[in-house]
Amino acid sequence: MTTTRRRAGKSKDIFEEDGKTFFEFTDRTTAFDGIKKDEFPHKGEVCCRLSAYWFEILEKEGIPTHFRAFVPPNIMEVEPLEIIPIEVIWRNFVAGSILKRHERGESLTVEIEPRLGARIPGGMIEFTTKFEEKDRPIDEQEILDNGWLTPDELDYIRECTRLTNDIMSGRLLERGIILADFKIEFGRDRNAAERILLADEVGTPDGCRFWDLDSYKQGVIESLDKDVYRYEKGDLSDVYLRIQRRICG
Ligand code: TMP
Ligand code: ASP
Repeated sequence: MTTTRRRAGKSKDIFEEDGKTFFEFTDRTTAFDGIKKDEFPHKGEVCCRLSAYWFEILEKEGIPTHFRAFVPPNIMEVEPLEIIPIEVIWRNFVAGSILKRHERGESLTVEIEPRLGARIPGGMIEFTTKFEEKDRPIDEQEILDNGWLTPDELDYIRECTRLTNDIMSGRLLERGIILADFKIEFGRDRNAAERILLADEVGTPDGCRFWDLDSYKQGVIESLDKDVYRYEKGDLSDVYLRIQRRICG
């Protein structure tokens, strides 16, 4: 049996064993393009469990994903892909970088009410670069000009992202959780480049903003995600274990 391992990202390792590809979700945590760095117990396990949970649901709903199998507690077998070098962000509510960009007077694709927690009617999609030192917002024309996607593929990704939002938002609401925004990534099947799959991780507190619905109704934003680490609002391990229990037991 041969195992080759490399550090795939800031929080995950990737390894190959017996011709199969695996993601190991680690406890490494970073924020603000790696400016903050720490490790928190249970973090890898929570993100792996939640990703496996959502990938299975999304597959059943007709979204092809790279998920193959969950190997508890923190490993996932995946289909090896060529990653498309963009991050896709869906926003239902105003938070994070969009508010900062608005405050700096940058142009946005959708007009927003510039207030943390304001709803964005109909939601909105945004794109950033992936492999640059800092993730940079890019528009659809730049994605096409760079040849990263064809117009049809861009439509497909928009549709998949909207559907992913609908599926996750609905299920979360039933559990008293608001999905304020999230980031997802896509890749191409190595043997059939035209086949685009949902990649990386999905529906985790690393890649989503989750807000407690009851608190929101009382005018308070209670973060159940990595914002507790970004803005030092609580213990990441506690919050991650709590959100995992609320979503998938
Ligand atoms: P943002 O408001 O900082 O642009 O983040 C939007 C959403 O995307 C939020 O749920 C966090 C997630 N995200 C990532 O998963 N990785 C990243 O590198 C960034 C910048 C955001
Ligand atoms: N994931 C990014 C980082 O590691 C940004 C963030 O989530 O704040 O820096």
